[in-house]
Amino acid sequence: MPKLIVVNRAGEETTVEATAGLSVMEAIRDNGFDELLALCGGCCSCATCHVHVAPADLARLSPMSEDENDLLDSSDHRDQFSRLSCQIEMTDALDGLKVTIAAED
Ligand code: FES
Repeated sequence: MPKLIVVNRAGEETTVEATAGLSVMEAIRDNGFDELLALCGGCCSCATCHVHVAPADLARLSPMSEDENDLLDSSDHRDQFSRLSCQIEMTDALDGLKVTIAAED
């Protein structure tokens, strides 16, 4: 199982096991983090699963879709490392991926 490193809003870092094939959002939610609302359940329509990807990991991710890009524009906290975690599929190749839960909009 690929490992995922999650930094919560308090800056605490936790390493969790993710299931390949599920999204980073699901891995975060399934491991008990209550800061990630993920209100739309992963269908790319709410932006409440916003995370900041560690700069060194950004190049490992697939490019974002136009829909994801548009939704991220609705966040006041968007930066160059922003992604919607429901749109990142966890794979063995992403082992060690580190994400920080974005501030709430
Ligand atoms: S969970 Fe709604 S956009 Fe990701």
